[in-house]
Amino acid sequence: MASIIDIQHLTKKYADGHLALDNISVRIDEGEIIALLGPNGAGKTTLISIICGLTVISGGSVQVDGCDVVSEYRRTRSIIGLVPQELMLEPFETVLGTVKLSRGLFGLKADPAYVEKILRQLSLWTKRNNQIRELSGGMKRRVLIAKALSHEPKVLFLDEPTAGVDVDMRRETWKVIKSLKQRGVTIVLTTHYIEEAEEIADRIAVINNGKILLIEEKYELMKRLGKKQLWIDIDRAITELPIKLRGSGIELENHGTRVVYKYDAAKTQGDVSSVLAVLREEGIAILDLQTYQSSLEDIFVGLVNEETM
Ligand SMILES: Nc1ncnc2c1ncn2[C@@H]1O[C@H](COP(=O)(O)OP(=O)(O)O)[C@@H](O)[C@H]1O
Ligand SMILES: [Mg+2]
Repeated sequence: MASIIDIQHLTKKYADGHLALDNISVRIDEGEIIALLGPNGAGKTTLISIICGLTVISGGSVQVDGCDVVSEYRRTRSIIGLVPQELMLEPFETVLGTVKLSRGLFGLKADPAYVEKILRQLSLWTKRNNQIRELSGGMKRRVLIAKALSHEPKVLFLDEPTAGVDVDMRRETWKVIKSLKQRGVTIVLTTHYIEEAEEIADRIAVINNGKILLIEEKYELMKRLGKKQLWIDIDRAITELPIKLRGSGIELENHGTRVVYKYDAAKTQGDVSSVLAVLREEGIAILDLQTYQSSLEDIFVGLVNEETM
């Protein structure tokens, strides 16, 4: 797949000497949704601001669609839509006016049909003549998305799109983001919500202390780092595991009535059946089986803690 954003050895040191980005190299593919996942202060907003040409680079380079974000700022900025972290809107302007104005600022000709299309897509068409101050928080956020889409960008950046948003609105925003992808927009979003990355991203980059800890396709990541547990409830309480099962990640829990086997999610199932076979040999009947797969959250917390230690 062709990459639309190419970040090479990017470094950002703020005036106070704080190293916010430390030698970051990432390629973002056209048409994908990539989530930059990291705790507060990780460097996510700094990274986005640099790609959008709003923050000065200390070292390295960023290209968008083959153009340098510094020397070809106007061209790269025209390809990018940005939904900032803070809600910044003119309260007395109407929804329609806000979006039209934003398109105009990019020097594009008015296109009422296009503006109507994005407002409809974001369920804002019926509110088009309302002033911004009359809208709910969720609607304001959608106006920001409409504004960012007003100049038909190829790449859309969403900085913490659902921070402080209620659960219903969060789900609705995810739906909008997915539908934008369907229309061919490349989407880069930052979040500190693991659930958000898990729900909508094709690839996840974990960022902490200005460094990319990993970047990987979501399902690969979960398969590679995920752990599974098999819980086997048995028909009696035993005080010790059968000898053949000792010392191989198998434990006895629930007062000796549950055998818990922990293994890599990527592993083949052969070992599972041998554990069951041993129990059968011992004349122990199985009452119930459950498996538990560690979530992205477990993986993420593990990674970030490892890094901090
Ligand atoms: N203008 C600035 N001057 C100095 N330090 C800054 C500035 N902006 C951000 N930082 C620092 O850079 C680090 C990364 O910030 P930021 O990119 O906003 O992180 P995130 O968006 O992941 O929460 C933080 O430690 C933050 O305090
Ligand atoms: Mg931020």
